[in-house]
Amino acid sequence: MSASPGAPEFADSYLVEVLTEFGLALKYVRAEGNTLYYLADDGSEVGVFDAASGFGSLMFGHNNPELVEHAKWLLDQQTPVHAQFSGYSYAINLAAKLNEIIRRELKTEDKFYGLFGNSGAEAVEITIKHAELDRGMRIKELKEGIEANIEAARSAIAGGARVSEAAAGLADGTDFDRLVAEVRRRNAETEARPPLFLALEGGFHGKLVSSVQLTFNEEFRGPFKALAAQARFIPRDRPEMIGKVVEEERAALLDVVVQDGVVDLVERDFPVFAAFLVEPILGEAGIFPISRELARSLREACDTIGVPLVSDEIQSGMGRSGTFLAGTQIDLKPDYIILAKALGGGLAKLGVVLVNEHRYRKDFELMHTSTFGRDGFSSRLALKFLEMLEADGGKAYQLAAERGAKAVAMMEAIKADYPDVVKEVRGKGLMLGFELHDQGKSADPEIREAVEHEALAFVIGGHLLRKHRIRIFSTASNLETMRFEPSIFLSDEELAQVDAGFRDVCQILRDQDASKFA
Ligand code: F0G
Repeated sequence: MSASPGAPEFADSYLVEVLTEFGLALKYVRAEGNTLYYLADDGSEVGVFDAASGFGSLMFGHNNPELVEHAKWLLDQQTPVHAQFSGYSYAINLAAKLNEIIRRELKTEDKFYGLFGNSGAEAVEITIKHAELDRGMRIKELKEGIEANIEAARSAIAGGARVSEAAAGLADGTDFDRLVAEVRRRNAETEARPPLFLALEGGFHGKLVSSVQLTFNEEFRGPFKALAAQARFIPRDRPEMIGKVVEEERAALLDVVVQDGVVDLVERDFPVFAAFLVEPILGEAGIFPISRELARSLREACDTIGVPLVSDEIQSGMGRSGTFLAGTQIDLKPDYIILAKALGGGLAKLGVVLVNEHRYRKDFELMHTSTFGRDGFSSRLALKFLEMLEADGGKAYQLAAERGAKAVAMMEAIKADYPDVVKEVRGKGLMLGFELHDQGKSADPEIREAVEHEALAFVIGGHLLRKHRIRIFSTASNLETMRFEPSIFLSDEELAQVDAGFRDVCQILRDQDASKFA
């Protein structure tokens, strides 16, 4: 048996089969700026405009020369890539720079401690673990208080206090030791409950064992539900549901108090929830920016329940929205911030969660490690990426906002010409969604069938790729929304190319004539 290099025989075999059906299975051989190149039959390079840009991980485009140069230099310098358990790691510098930027944007002097991993989903997993450690410590403090109260009550009983009637009812008698045993038994039952997380309907937080439980899409989450702690999902237009869900899940620990020589029982709220995760712009859901009002409601709700608010800026962060954090534009005040994707300049893999000092549990540093987490190469490359973002008074942020506004104007003009086809243009900066109306009632049976098989987005993507040399995909949870996330170097020519491609698709859908798809 021999291997066949380049054939999807030993990896991606099914994926490539599916992509081939829609003409999407091109073999890209080179990438530069917003362009991916494949080879034509005669061996010449054909460029494709890449609106996907690594699903938002390329702020400065593919293989940005300055970042590539820096990566080479780092290796030539023999940068210590692996130096775990030492007095210094380059991640310290990276965390300092991240603090400088986010403290400026959040207008706070608070410190944010960085915990590093290898990907977005891994940074979410670290978040989940840290939040659970924090919850466990809060439970421990609560229990220590209860134990101290039990001892105080024991002394009171020895001094002549009596057990109240209500408490005696619970313990089947007035014997104090029996009461204590019953309190502890009931509390142990409550404590054995697994933690819950809160997240928004439609949200996407990764696909690892725990992070996928916070990812709303049933297709991704459903088969793996039994593996880890679950989330309760809140509709983003109904923040009042948070209170209802909290009430439904409410649990309490029993505590004892002594008042006027009587030992009685009281309830203490048990920390059921570990954290509330949100994306300031829901990406995979279909590019939905959350409102300023929701941002405020989330903060209030988290303060009321006493859980950390976690902003997942893995896709929306690092300048794509026009500010370093998309949350800044809606005054979102998170306790944790998660970054990944673009952070490695599109070349290195890393993710980080930044935890506000008021929520930080330092013991975690000795509990969670990963071989490549906070390695020297990715940390230094990420630092360079941040320096480039911040250069020239934040020109990159400005470009994201400006080029994004131009793209929105282009898309809105198409919508004005094709209101029957285009439903909405959404997003901020260069994180944009171009949503089409549902084509399920098209007069063309081929289009209807594609909608039925959830394949129209691929048909459109295939057409744009072959005919217009544009690489674009819909979001997975909203198949009508094309996701537009190119780099800040988006040119007028590229915009014109997209304009022509989108208009062509709109015309075909208006004509209800799938035979025109390339
Ligand atoms: N959180 C958000 C908001 C994301 O958009 C993603 C990935 C992740 C977490 C997971 O990060 O892929 O590095 O493990 N989103 C991509 C998408 C895959 O299609 O939107 P990862």
